[in-house]
Amino acid sequence: MLLTVEGLATSFGRMRAVDGVSIAVPAGRTLGIVGESGCGKSVLSLSIMRLLAAPGSIIAGGITFDGQDLLAMPQRAMRRLRGRDIAMIFQEPMTSLNPVHTVGAQIIEALRAHDAAADPRATAIAALTRVRIPDAAAAMDKFPHQLSGGMRQRVMIAMAIACIPRLLIADEPTTALDVTVQAQILELLRDLQAETGMGLILITHDLGVIAEMADEVAVMYAGRIVESASAQDLFDDPQHPYTLGLLGSIPRLDLDRARLTAIEGTVPPPHAWPPGCRFAPRCPFAITACDAAPPPLRELSPGHQAACIRAPL
Ligand SMILES: Nc1ncnc2c1ncn2[C@@H]1O[C@H](COP(=O)(O)OP(=O)(O)OP(=O)(O)O)[C@@H](O)[C@H]1O
Ligand SMILES: [Mg+2]
Repeated sequence: MLLTVEGLATSFGRMRAVDGVSIAVPAGRTLGIVGESGCGKSVLSLSIMRLLAAPGSIIAGGITFDGQDLLAMPQRAMRRLRGRDIAMIFQEPMTSLNPVHTVGAQIIEALRAHDAAADPRATAIAALTRVRIPDAAAAMDKFPHQLSGGMRQRVMIAMAIACIPRLLIADEPTTALDVTVQAQILELLRDLQAETGMGLILITHDLGVIAEMADEVAVMYAGRIVESASAQDLFDDPQHPYTLGLLGSIPRLDLDRARLTAIEGTVPPPHAWPPGCRFAPRCPFAITACDAAPPPLRELSPGHQAACIRAPL
């Protein structure tokens, strides 16, 4: 297994944002992580990268990458690993590109930091070409604000993949982009994976993206994984009411807009988690027993788990 996360808990002060999450990503495969805003998807990915800013800290669990215990790894070694073996595409492209340096300077700097290329300039141009930026050599001299949103996102991806990482964590890589550019970026990630055999964690709130990209899917709700299955099983036979709700909210062209069923209410923030199942207050299947304790993930069929006392539905 390329990456294994077991029982991970991350808190900000006394509030847990990630509460006992386990995932596994084999080389060459894509794990989709889906859930509404505030579920803990970004905190989970920053935890894996060990990029949490104080007061965020990992308080329980383990992270193993290629047999190495990431939580025991010294900062220096972790810095070397980050960017070279594990790369991340952040949710906000503008916050991770430096406005005062050219695109080329930033990619070259990242490559130098990892001593990752004999000829950093040529490698940077190759990375920009790989993400299909037309005239990559000219793009090297551009500043981030001179590029369109779609181009900036490609630059972000080029930076992340310039070192050919073994694991790429892409946090909402296409949210800000229009549909055509989104499709191109997803295709690009798929091609890269086929070329390099990298493992991919794709974080999104868009089940359409999951359907197109993911081999396995983890559905997150209020800091926990509430359902985990192969993409096929998740779409054919969803077992957690939250997943049903998400699926019901996929826009479908064959349905009248008024008939779309979205889940009512919002994800509770960590300080407002109920003592029982955190989805129960929004759940049409909830019964009194659901308020007792957060239900653990249970295997319902091989490889298909759900954290619901009422499953199978
Ligand atoms: N630096 C922080 N300090 C305190 N709480 C935080 C911090 N960062 C995140 N949180 C809380 O942790 C929870 C999970 O946040 P996170 O950003 O991981 O959600 P998300 O699933 O990535 O949402 P989105 O889809 O909007 O990106 C939220 O309740 C958020 O308020
Ligand atoms: Mg996020």
